[in-house]
Order: sequence, then structure tokens, then C-alpha cells
Amino acid sequence: MKTITYNFEYEQKIRVCFIGAGGHSFRNVYPTFQYAPVDLVAVCDLDGERASSYARQFGAEKFYTDYKEMLSTEKPDAVFIVASYHKDGRVQATDIALDALKLGVHVWMEKPTAASRQEILELKAVSEQTGRYVMTGTKKVFFPSIEKAKEIISSPEFGTPSSIYIRYPQNMPKFENRNELTNLIWVLDHIFHPASIINYLMGKIKNISYQWEPFNGGTVTNIQFVSGAIGTLHLTAGASTSSPLERVEVIGQGANVVVDNGVKVSYYRKADPLAYGRAPSYIIDDSQAPLVWEPEFSLGQLYNKNIFYLGYVSEVLHFCESVLENRPPQKGTLDDSLEIIKLFEAYRNEPAGKLIEIN
Ligand SMILES: NC(=O)c1ccc[n+]([C@@H]2O[C@H](COP(=O)([O-])OP(=O)(O)OC[C@H]3O[C@@H](n4cnc5c(N)ncnc54)[C@H](O)[C@@H]3O)[C@@H](O)[C@H]2O)c1
Repeated sequence: MKTITYNFEYEQKIRVCFIGAGGHSFRNVYPTFQYAPVDLVAVCDLDGERASSYARQFGAEKFYTDYKEMLSTEKPDAVFIVASYHKDGRVQATDIALDALKLGVHVWMEKPTAASRQEILELKAVSEQTGRYVMTGTKKVFFPSIEKAKEIISSPEFGTPSSIYIRYPQNMPKFENRNELTNLIWVLDHIFHPASIINYLMGKIKNISYQWEPFNGGTVTNIQFVSGAIGTLHLTAGASTSSPLERVEVIGQGANVVVDNGVKVSYYRKADPLAYGRAPSYIIDDSQAPLVWEPEFSLGQLYNKNIFYLGYVSEVLHFCESVLENRPPQKGTLDDSLEIIKLFEAYRNEPAGKLIEIN
């Protein structure tokens, strides 16, 4: 198993600037640099006081309020962008990422990458022209639990992944109100979470149809994948805030795997059936018994920190290693974002009850 290197132990680091000194970045992104080959040289925020505080807090020597000035002056290898939304609902980081690419800088950005297919295609074109990478922080495909589920469903013993169920609490406004992007900011913000898992585990979607309920704006979506597999995305608006948010289950051929609450993985392996009406015990042979993984929360281990079990450190490491080794990131790619935004646009543009072609 891979072990973690502390920042000061790395012999080679990438020079990094950071745009955005907000709440999420303070809690979950800057702290990952403790464990990544990153030399944070400067921080930028429109609010100079925050930029200065974050620079001091996280060890950058300089701060700026103009990101173009920062990138032109500091000439970093890469920039991290964690910003917010424009007044019209568009994603601030999309425009900033385009500018950074044009200034020759690799980009790591928080999700959402953009609010439309067209903007992602533009990012892709500029990334190809400039030879600079863009990676989006789709943390869920870096969860140790989801990575384990991917490993399990890719094994020959599991058989072909045939169906998936995934739940995530998110409401959808009524169809007539979806024209206005500002009404969809939270859908856009959150769809990246379940959709990145769906795309990672099952591949491209062929078509969907969904039903919408008017009480909370919950939806149930039936999915057919290009592979022939099928799935259900249940957006559980109205669920209690005290409940675990997520559950993922993939069915193979005589086997299934469940990820509960983001951390608990249960692998129900292929097993011989117990004699119906005759089996006195449900305890099956050890060689076929389910396998279960869940973290302990007692030791001062890295895996107990949310920046590890929620994938933040892994996603940042994946990006840094890609830049250091000069190879494009394999996860959180613009192609992955494109698949996610196709789903977003389907909900935005098409009504409930219709069969919607995605690919
Ligand atoms: N992956 C996750 O788990 C997760 C969780 C929460 C938020 N997020 C994402 O993080 C982002 C929000 O992050 P936050 O909570 O830190 O946001 P925030 O609104 O608290 O802070 C954003 C900061 O960006 C700055 N900013 C905006 N435009 C700028 C510009 N042109 N130049 C310099 N600074 C600029 C703002 O001044 C602000 O301080 C969203 O993209 C959201 O989807 C992800």
C-alpha cells in the first residue's frame, strides 16, 4: 500500500499559486499541501486581507488581489482555483482557468468545471493548444472506498458490472424554472458528486429518463449505459440532514458491492446457495464470506482525517504527480467533466418522463 510523504520530505516540488481564499479551500484544499510536493509561492483573492491571512497561514511569501498579475509575475508551474459563481450563475473558475492556460500554467480547479458543454469544450481546446493540463477536483472518485469498489467491480470474479444504484440528497427546481442558471447553482454544484462516481464506475451514459416529485424536488433517474448496463440515480431531496448522504451499490454477476456513507465497503462475493428449507445456519464458508472494510476512528492516523477519506489529498497528489511527470491526469479530466455536464444539461433542458439521449 502506498504511504504518504510529508511536504518537507519531498526532494522535488511544483511551484504553485492559489486563487481563492474562501471557506472550503481553507478547510479542505490548502491543508492537503502538507502532504503534497507543493511549494506554495503566492495566494490571490479579491479581498487582500484574506489573501494576506491565507498566505501567512499556509506558508506563501506573497499575496495578490489580481490573479493575472500573480501568474505573470510568479510564473508558477500550476495554479489551484477555488472560487465561486458569477451573478448570472456561471462558474468563476472557468474563466480564470482559461486565462491561466493561456499564461502557460497547469490548472487544478474545484468542481464544477463549468456550467455548460460549450465551455468545457473551449477549455479542452485551449488545454490542447497550450499543452497545459486541467484537472477538476472530483473528490469522490478518489475516496478510498470508491477506489476499492472500482477495483472490485473490475475483477473477473465480480463479473460484468450490470447495474448500479446511487443516492445523493439534492433537490431540482420545477422544470419551468430551470431556464435560469441561477436557479440551478446547487444542482450544478452537487451533480458532480454522484455523477463523477457513476461515470468512474460505469462509463458513459447512453440515455436517461427521470421522474420529479413536487414536494421536495426529488428525482429518480433511470439510466442505460453505453456498456448495456443500467442504473438508478436517486436524488433524495427531503431526507433528514442527520442521515448519511450517500449509498452506492453495484451488481455484477453473482456478486455485489455496497459503499455506505462514503467509508464502509461491503463486498458480497460469489457464494454457493444455502439449501432452501434445509440450511440451519446462514454462516457460509470463510472462502465465500462477505468482505467488509470500515475505518477505526481512534488512532492519530492520516486515514482518519477527512482530507484523506474524502479524497482531497489523493486528488491533489494525482495532479501534482501528473505535472511532475509531465503526463496528463487520468482522473478528473475534462472528458470526465464533459460527461457530467451532459447529465446536468439533460435535467436543465428536458422535462420529466421523456427518454433523453446522452451519447
Ligand atoms: N469538493 C467539495 O467537497 C466541495 C465542498 C464545498 C465547496 N466546493 C467547491 O468550492 C468552491 C467554493 O469554495 P469556497 O467555499 O472556498 O468559496 P468562497 O465563496 O468561500 O470563496 C471563494 C473566494 O474566491 C474569491 N474569488 C472569486 N473570484 C476571484 C478572482 N477573480 N480573483 C481572486 N479571487 C477570487 C472570492 O473573493 C472568495 O474569497 C465551489 O466551486 C464549490 O463547488 C467543493
